[in-house]
Amino acid sequence: MCGIVGVLSDKPAAPLMMDALRRLEYRGYDSAGLATGSGGALDRRRAAGKLSALQDVLEAAPLPGTSGIGHTRWATHGPPNVENAHPHVAGRVAVVHNGIIENHAALRAELIAAGASFESATDTEVVAHMLDREIADGASPEQAMARVMPRLTGAFAFVVLVAGEEDLLLAARRASPLAIGLGDGAAYVGSDAVALAPITRRIVYLEDGDWAVLRRSGVQVFAGDGTPVERREQISTVSAAMIGKGNYRHFMEKEIHDQPEAIAHTLHAVIDPGTGKATLPPPLDTAETVAKITILAAGTSYYAGLTARYWLESIAGIACEVELASEFRDRKAVLPDGGVAIAVSQSGESLDTLMALRHAKALGQKVLALVNVPESTIARESDGVLLTRAGPEFGVASTKAFTAQLTAFLGLAVALGAARGHIDAGEVLRLVKALEAVPGRVADVLKDTGPYQIIAHDLARARDVLYLGRGLSYPIALEGALKLKEITYVHAEGYAAGEMKHGPIALIDEHVPVVIVAPSDGWFDKTASNMAEVRARGGKVILLTDKAGAAALGDGADHLVVLPDVPSEVAPILYTVPVQLMAYLAAVEKGTDADQPRNLAKSVTVE
Ligand code: G6P
Repeated sequence: MCGIVGVLSDKPAAPLMMDALRRLEYRGYDSAGLATGSGGALDRRRAAGKLSALQDVLEAAPLPGTSGIGHTRWATHGPPNVENAHPHVAGRVAVVHNGIIENHAALRAELIAAGASFESATDTEVVAHMLDREIADGASPEQAMARVMPRLTGAFAFVVLVAGEEDLLLAARRASPLAIGLGDGAAYVGSDAVALAPITRRIVYLEDGDWAVLRRSGVQVFAGDGTPVERREQISTVSAAMIGKGNYRHFMEKEIHDQPEAIAHTLHAVIDPGTGKATLPPPLDTAETVAKITILAAGTSYYAGLTARYWLESIAGIACEVELASEFRDRKAVLPDGGVAIAVSQSGESLDTLMALRHAKALGQKVLALVNVPESTIARESDGVLLTRAGPEFGVASTKAFTAQLTAFLGLAVALGAARGHIDAGEVLRLVKALEAVPGRVADVLKDTGPYQIIAHDLARARDVLYLGRGLSYPIALEGALKLKEITYVHAEGYAAGEMKHGPIALIDEHVPVVIVAPSDGWFDKTASNMAEVRARGGKVILLTDKAGAAALGDGADHLVVLPDVPSEVAPILYTVPVQLMAYLAAVEKGTDADQPRNLAKSVTVE
């Protein structure tokens, strides 16, 4: 993954690039670097660690120049030190890169045999050497790109700066995202439109395999085979106003509190607030004939898919499988004619999910994208798009995008159930009303975070934590465990409550907190038995339930959280909020960086 940026301006390039990189830091923060061109030469600054380290380097040694490239890294090839920090330079050429050049080892061997010497362990450096060689042999930078591009394999995006060419950047993308920004007498490029939002909203998205020549006067795009192509200019929907932290300590805290709004906006993308009527996006608009739904996703989005399966089966009566994108893409899955795949992704750029989408298409499925970024690659490669309207999400651990995905899926299940005649008009109305009430109930939960602070104190000190849930609460247990381990580094496992007796019960003793997600629904009595099994072995129970659940089981809990009463179908959306708060507050208590936890990145564009 990594975040990349390029600037051709009439203003100093370094501050513009640092500002854009701050909005790309969610893509990785192992190291950072900038290169600029001035007076015919290239100048470079790099630092290991987060952008703040590069800022210190720049303060001591500012970078001149109005053209430049910048990078924030999530390490793949080579440890996260200064030598491996981008930009990589060979002769006259500097490169910043996101993704992987898969044939880098063969290319490196060829270049070394021809006399090149390498400074880093990265796959990126081969691109700099290859371009430099072509230019040294008399090719123009454009000709060099046309010759080098067909020799590279893998999924990547990169931007090139050439010494002595201060009105030129070269940019290329294959699978990894890249957005070009147009200005007045200026041109920009970045991994996404959010990076460029404060400087321009005029965006040209490169298509898969494209490469481009940027000059201050304009941009020329070429397809993979070198023929010039037109790519449409669009106005990005992201404004600079949407990308601040407000008065919150972390983006994650802000994004948890954004949820009432994110859920309401998303709901109204599926269900008309005036009429209560749900609409189906293509390719699900022929709902009666949809043979099966296959959900493809990674990480938190996968857990949204696991929750959706319950709704799609019970409310819409449709066969549904949920697949981890990274596993599905290499399987010879047998899928029916007339099946629809739903690719679920906050970013719309996770490479595993994109590759799974392409695989599903090759297996004859139509594809619906459920994404939070309308211009994303997954949206553009799908037959239809259902947008979550969560707004930009910066915290690496996904929060509001998840509850927005749940909302969109439940709305979709209701619309499908109605269209297929699986539920009657009364049931549609009941479910729509239940959904309409969710933003208010989430806001109620967010009013008082005090109880979660006390629980977070225990979680932050635990070695292992178990999260249990059944039915619709099972994916929420998985999500709760993922949130905790991602941002506090405390080992946590989410388990189907009924499976606990088949293994994890061996972990339980008086030191293991067990978070039980148990609204008083059809699964409640069985979960209650599992809670008794935990208690019998001395485990510490943290029970999330409603009034009826508290009356039945509250006495057996070490910590009891009573949530508002809601219909069981919408409970997963509401019960997500406490598990997010507990993890976030535990991270604050431990002093880990909730927004940028170690080793992770938000948008994972490597396989
Ligand atoms: C990364 C992030 C997770 C996210 C997952 C899928 O691993 O750290 O928070 O859930 O990618 O991302 P997507 O953008 O496809 O939903």
